[in-house]
Amino acid sequence: MPYNTISVIGLGYIGLPTAAVFASRKKKVIGVDVNQHAVDTINKGEIHIVEPELDIVVHAAVTEGYLHATTTPEPADAFLIAVPTPFIHDNDGNSHKADLSYIKAASKALAPVLKAGDLVVLESTSPVGATEKMAAFLAEVRPDLTFPQTHGEESDIRIAHCPERVLPGHVIRELVENDRVIGGMTPKCSKAAADLYNIFVEGECVITNARTAEMAKLTENSFRDVNIAFANELSVICSKLDINVWELIALANRHPRVNILQPGAGVGGHCIAVDPWFIVDSCPEEAKLIHTARLVNDGKPQWVLEQIRQRLDTIHCTQPGMTRSDITVACLGIAFKPDIDDLRESPALGIAQQVAELGCRVQIVEPNIEALPGSLQADNVTLTPLHQALTQADVVCVLVKHKPFIEHADQVRDSKHLVDAVGLLG
Ligand SMILES: NC(=O)c1ccc[n+]([C@@H]2O[C@H](COP(=O)([O-])OP(=O)(O)OC[C@H]3O[C@@H](n4cnc5c(N)ncnc54)[C@H](O)[C@@H]3O)[C@@H](O)[C@H]2O)c1
Repeated sequence: MPYNTISVIGLGYIGLPTAAVFASRKKKVIGVDVNQHAVDTINKGEIHIVEPELDIVVHAAVTEGYLHATTTPEPADAFLIAVPTPFIHDNDGNSHKADLSYIKAASKALAPVLKAGDLVVLESTSPVGATEKMAAFLAEVRPDLTFPQTHGEESDIRIAHCPERVLPGHVIRELVENDRVIGGMTPKCSKAAADLYNIFVEGECVITNARTAEMAKLTENSFRDVNIAFANELSVICSKLDINVWELIALANRHPRVNILQPGAGVGGHCIAVDPWFIVDSCPEEAKLIHTARLVNDGKPQWVLEQIRQRLDTIHCTQPGMTRSDITVACLGIAFKPDIDDLRESPALGIAQQVAELGCRVQIVEPNIEALPGSLQADNVTLTPLHQALTQADVVCVLVKHKPFIEHADQVRDSKHLVDAVGLLG
């Protein structure tokens, strides 16, 4: 199938680079987004998100006439849906069910322009069964067309799931180089989707069915989560047994078939801390280990906070005149992982907020941001340079292993009351 016109629905961190890379291969690309600001920005050849090299690729694609953005879907030969799949928002904030309403809205919006022979690919990270649901949403609007769920290989429309596993900061390179898992609802659907991705993918396009492709993405992130949970649990055990967990892991990893990950302040970001819940939600009785790993990792920030409280208690005991507001706590790092500015689901950010709520003066040292986020806007919280925090703070907590902290590890080591959640000092 020659894909002359390709439409990408949802022009965020995943959709926009994908649209731009198709356009860079001289395909006509129609980008669709409900966000008018994003559409206007892209049509000026500019970008509304932060991703290295993306600005250059988008600018070239728009000025050469291969990419344009719109709020209303237009006819195309292939449609890729890359809209958000967050948790359903419930009143107590405890829902771990995927919200498929964005996929539903995107499907209903594009269905009127579908024609026989078109391909629709779901790229959003989704619970198992979401691709079939997307096909059902489309079929509801277009009873005049046939779909794989009712007509199999003979259907008018081809449907597939192709999850995305790019690393933010390296998206343009990884989009092209990574292998892709392609799960069609039928073998013909898979073949059609593989033909589409082969336009720019230099990695291998590996074919499976839609449910396995959905589960593959969730499995990759659950694997990481479970392995990090093992390291985090070890760190708590070792603290109780008075063993240096960093030394322990380095020793155990000398075994040729052992490779334990590093403990930290918890697990954050919008993938590893989220996707395993889609498995737990689908199979609550069966997903015991995956569920426990989530609880272990989600519990780690509270444990780190307890370590900080213990340092505060020590100060109160040795200097009884000092009140909470007299004590300065430096939090080194609030991003969800080293050397990025992304604060989404960040355990370090949550710890810093709770330290501020304890009433201490809090100095946030985060070399990757220029202003504190709204949740840390308080009189007792300041964004502070590293050297100032290290000279002024009574308690220093290392929450993220950013490069500048590694470079100044010796000064950090001199801190009188230290919590090292990430093994900066080993
Ligand atoms: N960002 C990543 O690193 C990453 C990696 C792998 C997978 N994913 C998955 O990819 C999907 C998209 O993630 P993202 O980071 O690109 O999200 P994003 O929030 O950056 O972008 C989503 C875009 O979709 C638009 N949108 C929402 N509803 C729409 C609709 N009905 N029609 C058209 N546009 C609509 C939004 O305005 C937004 O611009 C999610 O399922 C996410 O889990 C993301």
